[in-house]
Amino acid sequence: MSAGADAANRASELRAQMQYHAHRYHVLDDPEISDAEYDDLLRELVALEEAHPEVVTADSPTRRVGGPVSDAFAPVTHRERMFSLDNVVDEAELRGWEDRLVRVLDRTPVGYACELKIDGLAMSLTYTDGVLTQAATRGDGVTGEDVTANARTIESVPLRLLRDAPALMEVRGEIYMPRSAFDALNAQQAEAGERPYVNPRNTAAGSVRQKDPAVTASRRLSMWVYQIGYLEGAPSLATHTEQMAYVAGLGLPVNPANRRVDDLDGVCAYVTEALAGRHDHDYEIDGVVIKVDHLPAQRTAGFTAKSPRWAVAFKLPPEEKTTLLTDIAVNVGRTGAVTPYAVLEPVFVGGVTVTNATLHNEREAHRKDVRIGDTVVVRRAGDVIPEVVGPVPARRRRGAKVWRMPEQCPFCGNPIILPEGEAKHRCTGGYACPSRLREYLFHFAGRGAMDIEGLGYKTVDLLLSERVIADPADIFTIDGDVLLGFERFGELSVSNLLTAIEAAKDRPLSRLLTALGIRMVGGTVARTLARHFRSLDAILDATEDELAAVDGIGPEIARSVAEWAGDPDNRALVAKLEVAGVRIADPEPEETVDSGLLAGVTLVITGTLSSASRDDARAAVLARGGKVTGSVSSKTSALVAGEAPGSKLAKAEALGIPVLDEAGFARLLAEGPSALEER
Ligand code: IVH
Repeated sequence: MSAGADAANRASELRAQMQYHAHRYHVLDDPEISDAEYDDLLRELVALEEAHPEVVTADSPTRRVGGPVSDAFAPVTHRERMFSLDNVVDEAELRGWEDRLVRVLDRTPVGYACELKIDGLAMSLTYTDGVLTQAATRGDGVTGEDVTANARTIESVPLRLLRDAPALMEVRGEIYMPRSAFDALNAQQAEAGERPYVNPRNTAAGSVRQKDPAVTASRRLSMWVYQIGYLEGAPSLATHTEQMAYVAGLGLPVNPANRRVDDLDGVCAYVTEALAGRHDHDYEIDGVVIKVDHLPAQRTAGFTAKSPRWAVAFKLPPEEKTTLLTDIAVNVGRTGAVTPYAVLEPVFVGGVTVTNATLHNEREAHRKDVRIGDTVVVRRAGDVIPEVVGPVPARRRRGAKVWRMPEQCPFCGNPIILPEGEAKHRCTGGYACPSRLREYLFHFAGRGAMDIEGLGYKTVDLLLSERVIADPADIFTIDGDVLLGFERFGELSVSNLLTAIEAAKDRPLSRLLTALGIRMVGGTVARTLARHFRSLDAILDATEDELAAVDGIGPEIARSVAEWAGDPDNRALVAKLEVAGVRIADPEPEETVDSGLLAGVTLVITGTLSSASRDDARAAVLARGGKVTGSVSSKTSALVAGEAPGSKLAKAEALGIPVLDEAGFARLLAEGPSALEER
């Protein structure tokens, strides 16, 4: 086979693996590999695509600059695109970066600005005449989300700049949650018997995207500004260092750890210091950012598709320590997945004390060849899930024991099986397994699901062991007098819990769907399903094909939902929830429009609409009595064409069918078919 074909094969294999793991992480919230291992896959793919540009595909994960934009906050188009950075991991790669730079600039840059790379999330702040007028997340780099109300609660973000403010300025920086704030928040969680937050970065991201700014305020976020994105009506400055001094003078937070150095040797010294002092700050860092200091040189160097040529991130290697692995035990999660984890002699690594570390699955445990009694290397990267890298073979003791997956679940005694083609073992006990049931109920009541305040681990455990509840529906019929019989509860806590439970009966359908723990149905999929079907009954009645026909629902998710809906236990649970007073349908959107306005009108919608998702557009047509079909024919009244409309546009034009842009579509929705005739 040719080298090119090999590269293409390997690239598609890597993409498939990354897609699988990204789905486990983002949708299932049940990763099988660590962030560091995921990064290794990404790095290999980037290297492969650089060496063989012909194997790059449009949907390659390397084309993705940031996270998807959610529809909960208003979209903001950035004045200048918010780029991300390329990484180097050692001095040789750093010198390679400078060599490329020298080639574009025709000279070695004089002076680099070195900064700590803060492990948080990027934010853009716009100041108009010195007043904070907009804060936006990065989103996909082009469009972010308007989170101004939340950003205003962050104390280090000035609401008004100090004297001589420029007419218009946009700055960028990193929002982070200080370690001290994170530890305090988790101490509170533990106190309440709630699950701890995973890491400061994710918690900061979640805090910025709260609906209620008071919640953001309570999270004590902070910020370091690292770039000017746009500047109008200000003195002209020659270097990045001068820019940072300028914004600091306006009252914006600029990290005092920033330093200008003359050359790469200076950069290396900065990196060494940053590595040695990585835990000395009240924030997490995952690298050092190196920028060409001279702004005209930055402009000459310019950008690649994804990142500036004039800046690079030196990633710090994850910190590693050795410790004794005293045992390997397993967890059973809410889906029944059995996950082995290493029990470790406590070790301080990556800024925290680690006492256990996931081994993901049996295959991983064996691949790493870790045995009970081994001295092992433990690593914790910027992410928080600590991992066992592998054993130290030279220190293996004679009695070290190979671990095997138990044949029976240690919690319920039912057989543990490995479904064909899967990496994860499963407990076959269903919800009869106390571990699985506990995790399920905890998830059901948790954030992003039914969000029942006060129903954390401790309470769930108590209610289960006292047989007050045995499934999620029981939560809604809890008797306050029974609770008062337990030492843990007083009048006030009972009344608070019952109020929270009552409120949870009225959650949107998407929350209920998330809470039910259907495989592959996380928040995004749940919202898609809820928007389309509007009731749990409609979802129970839908065929697999009908599910798969929904925009955003792939065949695998459709199969999973259909399987779930086909299980009589699940149908019984839904019935029980409804009897208990839980709302299982979303109200029809209030219609102020004439519901028969588009009677007899058949539309095809194609391309990307900027003002609404295709599902919403479709819903708007249906609400007016119109029809939406998938393909253009002579029966089509009009084609609505958004961005990148594809072949349907050509077909409509060939058939002489009216084509509407977004403005035309808006008129049609407002005025009815007469909007078509006037064209
Ligand atoms: S400069 C065009 N400086 O790292 C250059 N970024 O992948 C923009 N980050 O999205 C980035 N600390 O969120 C820069 N001192 C720093 C940074 C920093 C953290 C983040 C930033 C960016 C990501 C790069």
